[in-house]
Amino acid sequence: MSGLDPSPIMQVGMGFFASKTLLSAVELGLFTKLASQPLTGQDIAAALQLSPRAVPDFPDALVALKFLERDGDGPEARYANTPESGFFLDRDSPAYIGGILEMANARLYRFWGDLTEALRTGKAQNETKVSGEPLFATLYADQARLEQFMNAMSGISAGNFKAFAGAFDFSKYSTLCDVGGATGLLACTVAAAHPHLRCTSFDLPKVVPIAMRRIEQTGLTDRVTAVGGDFFTDSLPQADVITMGMILHDWNLATKKALIRKAYDALPPGGAFVVIETLIDDARRENAFGLLMSLNMLIECGDAFDYTAADFAGWCREAGFRAFETVRLTGPSSAAIAYK
Ligand SMILES: C[S@@+](CC[C@H](N)C(=O)[O-])C[C@H]1O[C@@H](n2cnc3c(N)ncnc32)[C@H](O)[C@@H]1O
Repeated sequence: MSGLDPSPIMQVGMGFFASKTLLSAVELGLFTKLASQPLTGQDIAAALQLSPRAVPDFPDALVALKFLERDGDGPEARYANTPESGFFLDRDSPAYIGGILEMANARLYRFWGDLTEALRTGKAQNETKVSGEPLFATLYADQARLEQFMNAMSGISAGNFKAFAGAFDFSKYSTLCDVGGATGLLACTVAAAHPHLRCTSFDLPKVVPIAMRRIEQTGLTDRVTAVGGDFFTDSLPQADVITMGMILHDWNLATKKALIRKAYDALPPGGAFVVIETLIDDARRENAFGLLMSLNMLIECGDAFDYTAADFAGWCREAGFRAFETVRLTGPSSAAIAYK
């Protein structure tokens, strides 16, 4: 006996079994269905229009994975959401984060099947492989896909924006512009927590109506606005704080540096430039999710990549920023801040 344990290898190597089971449960709306009442396996099959073969394996697998609870055994047993599934995976919950899982299910799961080709060629493996068009033009050509992408971003970012709103000292600033602000979630979250701030969400014109909808829903129209523009051809709105949530990781090094320069130009002396990303640890050994996110950017964009706080500080220093700090947010995510 070697005394070595192969289970971590098997757990990750066969991890797609568990991953796809959860993604299908989200796709089918299982957690939303169970929010109103516990159901038997047969009820679940009927409610979700599943084959009888799907039960009891599908809900029992979710019990074993700890995404469902089961009261009893056999055909009469009733399945219910765990507290976490009910809070985060019921589509009607305000804390729903399943948007990112819906997009992972609809797009990324299959695109990651071509990871080996991406590693060999350095080329994107998503819709752009066929369309030849840039990612955002391809995604946004279809309203349903645009909405899906927006929901995915809200799902992955909501916790980080809340943590950032609580962790950063906004007391000496009065304006913020969130560049690539998508649904306006960061602008609304920060404005709600800091009543003295005026916030702008800047994104492509197609995205503005979606942001306006959220701003109206949150009742913040007096202090939050959504502005349409292109961060490559337009200058950024002037603000005391410029934020970019998962923007720099979408682009190659030259474009990252150009966006950093634009942020510098839009800030007053003393202003803060904040990026919120799954920042890789400086030694590139620990933040597995950050490193895998960088591979995801290979799948999505080819030459785009995630980076460390040290990388960020180096690029920002070149642009003229003078001081830097990093703040841990939720899970694998952090905010890196550069002061002008
Ligand atoms: C990965 S998403 C990040 C969304 C959001 N900041 C977050 O962290 O959840 C990138 C955003 O950049 C926006 N974007 C892409 N190209 C842009 C451009 N040329 N000008 C302005 N916004 C752009 C997209 O519309 C999208 O909302």
